[in-house]
Formats: sequence, C-alpha cells, structure tokens
Amino acid sequence: MKIALIGYGNIANALVNGMISSEKILLTDDLYIFHNNKEKIYQHDKCTFMRSGEKCAHSFDIIFLCVKPNDIESAINGNLELFIDNQIVVSVAAGIKIKTIKNLIKRDSGVVRAMPNLCAVFNESITGFCSDNNVGDNKKKHIEGIFRSIGYVREIKEEEMDSFTALFGSGPAYIMYFIESLMKCESFDSIDEEDKSLLILNLLSSTSKMLLVTENINDLRKKVTSKGGTTEAAIKLFEDKDFMKIVRDAIQKATKRSLEMSK
Ligand SMILES: NC(=O)c1ccc[n+]([C@@H]2O[C@H](COP(=O)([O-])OP(=O)(O)OC[C@H]3O[C@@H](n4cnc5c(N)ncnc54)[C@H](OP(=O)(O)O)[C@@H]3O)[C@@H](O)[C@H]2O)c1
Repeated sequence: MKIALIGYGNIANALVNGMISSEKILLTDDLYIFHNNKEKIYQHDKCTFMRSGEKCAHSFDIIFLCVKPNDIESAINGNLELFIDNQIVVSVAAGIKIKTIKNLIKRDSGVVRAMPNLCAVFNESITGFCSDNNVGDNKKKHIEGIFRSIGYVREIKEEEMDSFTALFGSGPAYIMYFIESLMKCESFDSIDEEDKSLLILNLLSSTSKMLLVTENINDLRKKVTSKGGTTEAAIKLFEDKDFMKIVRDAIQKATKRSLEMSK
C-alpha cells in the first residue's frame, strides 16, 4: 500500500514513528511525506520526503491529513492532484467534519476522521475514529492498525467526536491541572520542590498501575478511606464542594466548545 502524509508536525511524526516501529505495517507499505519546511532537508530510509505541492507520479491508497484545522483547505487545494477516487483520506484535524473533507477533495473516496491525543508522541495516544460508508472493513482495519501503533484506538460515531475530544483529547491537560494542584500543596523542609514533584508523578503512575488491575475503583477507594481518617476528611471536602459535578460540568463545557468550533 502507498501511504502519504500531508503535514509533518507532532502528530505526523508520532504516526510515522509508530508505523515504522510496528514493522508489520511498513513491510507492505510505502510512506511519502509532504511537508511545508523550506529550510530543513529530511531523510529517512523508510520514507520519501517531498515538498507540499510538489508533483508526484505515484497514486496513494491512503492519505493522512496532519495539518492544523485552519490549514486543511490550503493543504488539500495545494496537493489536489494527490486525491483520486477510491482512496481513503484520514483527517486528524480537530473539529473538521467528514462532510467538509469530502467537499474539499471532490472525489469519490472514503473519509476517516480521527482524534488522537497529545500522548501519541509517546505511543500512548487514545484515539477515536469514525468513517463514512465508503471505507470498507479491510481498509478500516488497516487504519485502525496504524493508530494502534501509537496507542489505544476505538471506533466511535461521528456525533460522539465532540464528547470524545472533550474527555480524551483534552484529558491529558485535566490530569496535568490536578497534578499542578497537588504540587501546590504542602511543603517540606526535608524534600525540595523538584523531588516533591517527582514523588507526585510517581503517586500518579503507581495509582494508575493499581487501578488497571482493580475491578471497581469506587469500592477500592472506599476501602482505603478509613472512617474518621485523613483521607475521609479530604474526600468529605471534595464532596461538599461537589468536585464530581465540577468535573462533569467542565467536560460538558469542552464538548460544547468542540461543537461550536466544528460549525
Ligand atoms: N498535537 C496534538 O496533541 C493533537 C491532538 C489531536 C488532534 N490533533 C490534530 O492534528 C493536527 C496536527 O496537529 P500537530 O500538533 O501535529 O500540528 P503541527 O505540529 O503544527 O503540525 C502541522 C504541520 O503541518 C504543516 N503544514 C501546514 N500547512 C501545510 C501544507 N499546506 N502542506 C504541508 N504541510 C503543511 C505545518 O508546517 P508549517 O508550520 O511550516 O506551516 C506543520 O509542520 C491538527 O489538525 C490538530 O487538530 C493534534
């Protein structure tokens, strides 16, 4: 299969590295990257680099659009000859609907819309994707495999893209915000701030590891919250301030914003 990527930033880099490291994909695939960098000369034995808009004799089975949402139109128009019928076009641009991509490419192709997250760079993305009816099961599996090479992937409905973005796309920043809040708490003569930050990060990773093998988080949390103890004192304050409602409301706000941005 011949695969092209238009745009070579964070997400494209993660996808290319993911594809290359999971060799089963690249054994049969040919990767072309159309970038926008006038100064840099890229080289990689497994990819061919071309300037965006440069004439290309090949036709591609899959084209990934990896540019910012505002650049989608110019990236498509500047490379219009790459788009042919019966091809799969995969867009990772936040908020850009399948219908919009179809109107821009003006071809009878299948379109996939995907939402990876920041953790793609460490092959730990949580990616949601949806597609139109022109994408057959085999192609879908292939694309799913490509996203699996950069983390977890789930097929969702296009109507769910905004709430998926609100929960998993913006999710890393919510976790960072909570960690920042913990980092601002308490200080110790015996532990400097840098060390304290490291310990808090360990708190996060060790708790995550434990939760991944825990059947019911609520049960476990109740078990470790002794009556009249320190944890209960803190949790009571969270509950009094309705922390869970604050989180729910915040995510609903993000969903609404994603919806507004995709209009
Ligand atoms: N980063 C994330 O965590 C994340 C998460 C979910 C979804 N996304 C989506 O993924 C897409 C890419 O994000 P990113 O973080 O990878 O952005 P990025 O690092 O800015 O990469 C985009 C690249 O596209 C290039 N570009 C712009 N116009 C082009 C054109 N006409 N032809 C070829 N290349 C062109 C840009 O080059 P110049 O800067 O030189 O123009 C830039 O290198 C966005 O649509 C975003 O919504 C990103």
